[in-house]
Amino acid sequence: MKIIKFGGSVITSKNDPLSLNSNVIIELAEEIRRYYLEFKDRVKLVIVHGGGSYGHPLVIECLKRFSTLTLECFAKVSYFMNLLNMYVLEALLSNEVPVVGIPPKAICKVSETLECDLTTVNQLMEAGLIPVLYGDVVLYNNGFKVLSGDDIVWMIAKEFNANAVIFLTDVDGVYDRNPKSFKDATLLTHVSLDEVLNRVEFWGVKDVTGGMLEKLRKAKELNVRGLRVYVVNGYKRGNLYNALRESNVLGSVIWV
Ligand code: IPE
Repeated sequence: MKIIKFGGSVITSKNDPLSLNSNVIIELAEEIRRYYLEFKDRVKLVIVHGGGSYGHPLVIECLKRFSTLTLECFAKVSYFMNLLNMYVLEALLSNEVPVVGIPPKAICKVSETLECDLTTVNQLMEAGLIPVLYGDVVLYNNGFKVLSGDDIVWMIAKEFNANAVIFLTDVDGVYDRNPKSFKDATLLTHVSLDEVLNRVEFWGVKDVTGGMLEKLRKAKELNVRGLRVYVVNGYKRGNLYNALRESNVLGSVIWV
């Protein structure tokens, strides 16, 4: 099975609260449709999307004002993530892709570690549906916590023995240095996870759930193995389809 993560910075404009990149979402849905129609009966896919400007600004504001996620914050973030999920589902449904939204807060909680009951996700996928989950707010000990879509990706990858994970981001892949400051920054195209973690000095801007470093480090932490990770630019047409086909991929291919 394969997992796609729609980065929040791809499906929304990260710096502009509640701004949706509708055109990008539609283009991505069209690429999934193309893949889905070609491989229909054999498609086993889970989609996870991030929060972008529907999640992060609200969380940051709450933490600034109250130093914690209050009841009202939980309810608001929950509402807007659900709304974003609806837009993603709508684009896929109008492209004949049989998706079904599953709110992580209903199946996951964090105590010492993250615990999710993935029974329904598995059964829906086995029945031929494509579950769509997302970064969300979840129960955490006596309070609440933001659960990154990346954590969900790795948990599902491990549980269902995924053979490929595709991260759609707003950059062309993983670079060894910041490409905005260093002209000689190199895009790592075919590398092992260990090599990436050793070589990379630049990990992009941190957000409330950690950015690119956390994204990859978590695979190591959870001891996820035996899969290919594709980090590609979600703004460039064809990248998602090629990553799903696992051929002609422009971006980083990382062996985990
Ligand atoms: C964050 O999810 C969800 C919330 C802030 C509620 P992610 O961490 O997966 O989101 P992106 O992809 O970085 O935007």
